[in-house]
Amino acid sequence: MNMVVHGLFLVAILILASTKLVMGQSTPICQTKCGNVSIEFPFGLSTGCYYAGQDNFNLTCNETTNELFFFNMQVINIAHSGELRVLQSTSFTCYNSENNTNELFYNTNLVNFTLSNKNRFTAVGCNTYAFMTTFKRDRNYSTGCLSLCDSTPKENGLCSGDGCCQTSVPKRSRRFRIRSRRFDRETSVSDFNPCFYAFLVEDGMFSFSPSQDLQNLRNVTKFPIVLDWSIGEQTCLQVGNTSICGKNSECLNSTTRTGYNCKCKAGYEGNPYLLDGCQDIDECTTSSTIYRHNCSASSTCNNTMGHFLCYCPPGYNLNATNNSCMRKGRSEYYGWTRIFLATTVGFLAILLVFGCVEQKIKHRKNTELRKHFFEQNGGGMLRQRLSGAGTSNSDVKIFTEEGMKEATNGYEESRILGQGGQGTVYKGILPDNSVVAIKKARLGDSSQVEQFINEVLVLSQINHRNVVKLLGCCLETEVPLLVYEFINSGTLYDHLHGSMSNSYLTWEHRLRIAVEIAGTLAYLHSSASIPIIHRDVKTANILLDENLTAKVADFGASRLIPMDKEQLTTMVQGTLGYLDPEYYNTGLLNEKSDVYSFGVVLMELLTGQKALCFEKPQQSKHLVNYFACAMKEDRLHEVVDSQVMKENNQREIHEAARIAVECTRLMGEERPRMKEVAAQLEALGVAKTKHELSDQYNEPEVNKHLVGVEILPAQGDTGTTGYDSIKNVTRLNIEAGR
Ligand SMILES: *[C@@H]1O[C@H](CO)[C@@H](O)[C@H](O)[C@H]1NC(C)=O
Ligand SMILES: *[C@@H]1O[C@H](CO)[C@@H](O)[C@H](O)[C@H]1NC(C)=O
Ligand SMILES: *[C@@H]1O[C@H](CO)[C@@H](O)[C@H](O)[C@H]1NC(C)=O
Ligand SMILES: *[C@@H]1O[C@H](CO)[C@@H](O)[C@H](O)[C@H]1NC(C)=O
Ligand SMILES: *[C@@H]1O[C@H](CO)[C@@H](O)[C@H](O)[C@H]1NC(C)=O
Ligand SMILES: *[C@@H]1O[C@H](CO)[C@@H](O)[C@H](O)[C@H]1NC(C)=O
Ligand SMILES: *[C@@H]1O[C@H](CO)[C@@H](O)[C@H](O)[C@H]1NC(C)=O
Ligand SMILES: *[C@@H]1O[C@H](CO)[C@@H](O)[C@H](O)[C@H]1NC(C)=O
Ligand SMILES: *[C@@H]1O[C@H](CO)[C@@H](O)[C@H](O)[C@H]1NC(C)=O
Ligand SMILES: *[C@@H]1O[C@H](CO)[C@@H](O)[C@H](O)[C@H]1NC(C)=O
Ligand SMILES: *[C@@H]1O[C@H](CO)[C@@H](O)[C@H](O)[C@H]1NC(C)=O
Ligand SMILES: *[C@@H]1O[C@H](CO)[C@@H](O)[C@H](O)[C@H]1NC(C)=O
Repeated sequence: MNMVVHGLFLVAILILASTKLVMGQSTPICQTKCGNVSIEFPFGLSTGCYYAGQDNFNLTCNETTNELFFFNMQVINIAHSGELRVLQSTSFTCYNSENNTNELFYNTNLVNFTLSNKNRFTAVGCNTYAFMTTFKRDRNYSTGCLSLCDSTPKENGLCSGDGCCQTSVPKRSRRFRIRSRRFDRETSVSDFNPCFYAFLVEDGMFSFSPSQDLQNLRNVTKFPIVLDWSIGEQTCLQVGNTSICGKNSECLNSTTRTGYNCKCKAGYEGNPYLLDGCQDIDECTTSSTIYRHNCSASSTCNNTMGHFLCYCPPGYNLNATNNSCMRKGRSEYYGWTRIFLATTVGFLAILLVFGCVEQKIKHRKNTELRKHFFEQNGGGMLRQRLSGAGTSNSDVKIFTEEGMKEATNGYEESRILGQGGQGTVYKGILPDNSVVAIKKARLGDSSQVEQFINEVLVLSQINHRNVVKLLGCCLETEVPLLVYEFINSGTLYDHLHGSMSNSYLTWEHRLRIAVEIAGTLAYLHSSASIPIIHRDVKTANILLDENLTAKVADFGASRLIPMDKEQLTTMVQGTLGYLDPEYYNTGLLNEKSDVYSFGVVLMELLTGQKALCFEKPQQSKHLVNYFACAMKEDRLHEVVDSQVMKENNQREIHEAARIAVECTRLMGEERPRMKEVAAQLEALGVAKTKHELSDQYNEPEVNKHLVGVEILPAQGDTGTTGYDSIKNVTRLNIEAGR
């Protein structure tokens, strides 16, 4: 009775146990480690802990050595993917000198597991063949390799046929035996290789060292081999949802044998053979580099089942390309953004309208201003006169303000050719690429306008090769602009004393220049339709072109007398050395004033000295005085430029000097007319070319040439006086059309 109850109880326990076996595949009591090897389902040490649908998953753990065993093979690693690594002993055959054999070999039965083809069948020895026999249910077969050598191999590491050979293993072997044999029985056993070895080893896990392995491989008895395992005999398709694979895992057909293996889905990790083995990986916190999130920062990472999301704070969008947060685009912004934008656009539009209106007003103002200046500068008058003046002045162009600005690149400083009392001269480039000189007068007073117009008209009528050609003018600016032809080789002043004093002018040059100037002045005084008195003949106003041909410049513009004092001072000073003393004293200007100035220029040409030299003592400051004295005392050779005086030109120089002195006589009446001067100089030049020498030479009288003008540095009241007298006489002369 008691027995029956007891028996029933036992049965009940058995039923419970089996139920549990079916229901829960792994129980907390299962040992998960043996030594340092982890044991996971489907492997186990005790009933209920391993997969029982098949043999082999029951392992044993030797508690004394803490070693895990699969049959008699020590387990070193179990992988979920279907691999089991175990250590297997080496088979060997050893011979001694008495032909006694010591052989050891193993019959291995892996039962439900198979040998992986990651293993290599290996034989070590110098007179051996080794083989592996596979036993199948229906047939047996063998494979192996042969190794022969007469001495210890030299090469370390490689098992390539010299003392060691390797071959691959038959697919899916379960039962097999490995043996080694002496290949040639006739050969006596050598001392260096008494034993022959055969074993399986995972590819790459054996490194052959001949000197050691041929002797002692026996002592290193075990090599790791790889076994394949899988669940069942069926494919995933066949097992369907009856596979033992747990949640969040997938079934994979075994690639090496029949049956299947399980694998956790991406984003999960754990034991796929357990129902809840695959656990979500928290990519946001894991330290594993394989699973770690790739959000721009951990703080923006949100872990989800199987994966993770990168999220961004409000107002930001995630850029999926690099998982970084970006400020939200305009289209997603409503409310304030839109209002702000609308306001901005509106405001900008209003600004634009205001800008346009202002621009227009400014433009109109500009136009009006230009018109005003044009009238103020006598533009209307000029136009009128030009239209009535016939054909000769049709050349004079009226330029626009824009054109002038463009030509001078906005009156750029680098374009300035010269700066003087009468204004600034710019180099200008017209749209047709022709180079011109543009003179911008200083601020003049409005009473000068009519004179200016006269000048333009007069100049436009002069067509003389030794007069700088006036091309046109611009009247739209506050001060008028004059446009001249561009003469590129500087002034006579520059050549004699100034920046180009290194250019050596020969006597022939100088005489020709003198003839040209004299001829030009004579033409102006008598031949031009309206006689013109230049009033400001000086070396600084004689331009030279590349052939050293003289061009008389600065006619009309000099009458635009500057208003500010400093410039006035400069002008009077600059002109003083050439100023006719009679004109200076009486204020009466006539053509003899030009004659006087020309005399000074001629003296400059002869001596190479400046008209006024303040460094010299009082008596010789003025070139006219100095020169006249020298002539009187017969010291001409002392004052004449040493570079000019030659054996063959003394007579010409004396003659020129006489003319110069005559031109600078104190009384205008005593001076020759410009026409006579020109003729005399020209005769000199002609005489020179004909090598005619005149022995007649009269020394001129110099007594009357003493100049009464006190040279003053033209400051203050004195300067103003000089300015006024010039102005008055000038107007008188021009208006009289003398
Ligand atoms: C396990 O322990 C043995 C020695 O006890 C050691 O040689 C081996 O490397 C260890 N294996 C692992 C995976 O730690
Ligand atoms: C695997 O083991 C089971 C149970 O021990 C057996 O029925 C089956 O035939 C084995 N499979 C092979 C291929 O040996
Ligand atoms: C455990 O290993 C030791 C030493 O190899 C051996 O003596 C002992 O019999 C083993 N125990 C079991 C249960 O196999
Ligand atoms: C477990 O393993 C032992 C030896 O390791 C074997 O004898 C036995 O048949 C295996 N099977 C089961 C179900 O215990
Ligand atoms: C070993 O065997 C070989 C061939 O079987 C024989 O020729 C040789 O004499 C034997 N050596 C000894 C010491 O018996
Ligand atoms: C395979 O070899 C074993 C042992 O050598 C033998 O018993 C068996 O009969 C052989 N099987 C076949 C099919 O020859
Ligand atoms: C190797 O084993 C042999 C025989 O078992 C032994 O005589 C020899 O001393 C061992 N060598 C080493 C290095 O352990
Ligand atoms: C497996 O699938 C079949 C139909 O294919 C279904 O009837 C059965 O309930 C499923 N079993 C489980 C455990 O999901
Ligand atoms: C497994 O193998 C079967 C048959 O070869 C095939 O139909 C099935 O798609 C495979 N399943 C997987 C997951 O590879
Ligand atoms: C993270 O994701 C879960 C759903 O997967 C959601 O409920 C939660 O609000 C998210 N957290 C953040 C900070 O986005
Ligand atoms: C996202 O980032 C990439 C790389 O910085 C950039 O090329 C791409 O234009 C971005 N996409 C958007 C929608 O901003
Ligand atoms: C981030 O990782 C996911 C997978 O985890 C991948 O699909 C995506 O392309 C990665 N993005 C970047 C920017 O690396």
